[in-house]
Parts: sequence; C-alpha cells; structure tokens
Amino acid sequence: MTFTRPASDWIDGKIPVFAPLTPDERAASRYDRDFSVPDVYTGIAFGHRLFGSGAAEGLYRTVSALLLATPKPPEAVLDLGCGVGRVLYDCAPAWPATRFLGIDLSYNICRRASALLKSNQPVPLPGMARWGWPGMVFNGARTLDNVTIAQASALDLPCPPLSCDAVLATLLLCRLPDPVAGLAQMVRVLRPGGKLILATPCGFTTEEPWSAFVPAEKMREHLAAFGLRIDEWIEDLPYRERIDAQGNAHDWRVRVIAATCGV
Ligand SMILES: C[S@@+](CC[C@H](N)C(=O)[O-])C[C@H]1O[C@@H](n2cnc3c(N)ncnc32)[C@H](O)[C@@H]1O
Repeated sequence: MTFTRPASDWIDGKIPVFAPLTPDERAASRYDRDFSVPDVYTGIAFGHRLFGSGAAEGLYRTVSALLLATPKPPEAVLDLGCGVGRVLYDCAPAWPATRFLGIDLSYNICRRASALLKSNQPVPLPGMARWGWPGMVFNGARTLDNVTIAQASALDLPCPPLSCDAVLATLLLCRLPDPVAGLAQMVRVLRPGGKLILATPCGFTTEEPWSAFVPAEKMREHLAAFGLRIDEWIEDLPYRERIDAQGNAHDWRVRVIAATCGV
C-alpha cells in the first residue's frame, strides 16, 4: 500500500500511525481507554457468529453486496472508519488480488481489526461480560494478506489522489466534525468511474454538523457537487445494535448510497 507520507509511529510494530493521538487523548476516548468498546463493537459486527443475532446483518450484507456487485475485481478498496473490520472480513476473501486498506482513528479499534482480519487466533472479548455475555471468544479470525490496517483520520487521508477504485464509509460520515470535508477526501482519492458506498443514519437527531446532509435533498446536492452519480439510494434500512444479552438494543434507520465518481 502506498502512502503519501511516512508513518509517524507504529502500533504494536505493525499498524502505521498517521494521526497520532496523545496518551491523554487516548485516555479520554471511549474507544481507546480500554478494550470494552472494541469488544462490544466486535459483538455487534459479528453477532451472527457469536450469538446468532441477525440484528446488524442487513446493513453489513447490503454494503458488501453493493461493493461485490462491481463487474470486475478492482485494484484497490478503501474502508474508512473501518471499525473492527466486518466489511473487509466479508469482501477481502472474495477478491484475493484486490488490495484492501482499512483506516480508523482509534488505536484499539485498529488493533482489534488487525486481530480479527490478520491473526488467525481466537480473540477473547472480556468486555462483553458486563453486558451479560461472559466468556465470549471470537473463533473466526482470518489471515487476509490483501488487507492493510492503518491508523489515520478520514479528514486527512495519507492516500495519494486517484488511488482507489472504491471507497466505503459505513456509519462514519455522521461521526465526522465536518462531514462535507470527509466527502471531499473520499472523492480526492477515488479514480474516475470509482465507486463510493456510504451508509449513514438518516434519523440522526444532532443538528450540527450532520445538518449538512439533512434533508435528503441536501445530500443529493452535495453528492452532485462532487461529481458523484447516484446509482442506488436505500432509505430506512433497519440496523439494530444489540447492546446486552437481555435484548436491549439501539435501533437506527440507515441510508445507504452507492455512487459513481466523475462520470
Ligand atoms: C460507528 S463505528 C462504525 C465502524 C464500522 N464502519 C462498522 O460499520 O462496523 C465508527 C468508526 O469510525 C471511527 N472514526 C471516527 N472518527 C474518525 C475519523 N476522523 N477518521 C477515521 N475513523 C474515524 C471510529 O473510531 C469508529 O471505529
């Protein structure tokens, strides 16, 4: 994988760091102060394997299907805010000659994605015990040589312009302080004809900065301004995050968009 600048550090000697966080920033981040959030995210993303829950399957399978519908395997795919790597886990084995890059800002989420996608070792999830799932271990970790995990910000990508055939962002855009700047970064790295797949909650209640894309018409205008042609627009896809063994959950309605760049 080619980067536009050298890594400023490495996590565990193997994950390049491009947006270093100070120890204080990591201690203040719910993702990074320990592994409880990465454990819970692993449970959400892989709930179908861990405890037979299909709650998140509709979203992950929709995003993967939209990517894999590309007529021929692309050279390079970027998953922004890849989280624990569920979409990479599903798609990278289907296209072994394609280079997949997963980027996330959180050190511990990057560590977890690397363990799930590259270690081939059981991954214990002790953080799930306090939500009623003691002794949980994920036994399906893979060794995907065509996947690279890197720590970086989606708002300052270390990727060359026009270097990706597809960019994915599942549940990321709504987390960015400037989602329009995030979209600009995605378009910068996409080749003409490349695919952008966005999945993002449509019932988001926070006014700013998400308001840049509310109502849906505003989002259509932003995509058009970036030269993106909309191929698919799915509104209100149900996405349930099961958060404990008692059945409590957060329910989201997600908008999923597939668009083609610069045509
Ligand atoms: C709700 S999770 C979604 C994870 C994954 N895409 C999925 O759907 O399972 C949002 C992710 O975005 C990451 N994130 C937040 N801000 C980011 C940024 N500026 N750049 C890269 N990743 C970011 C978080 O660390 C977190 O892993």
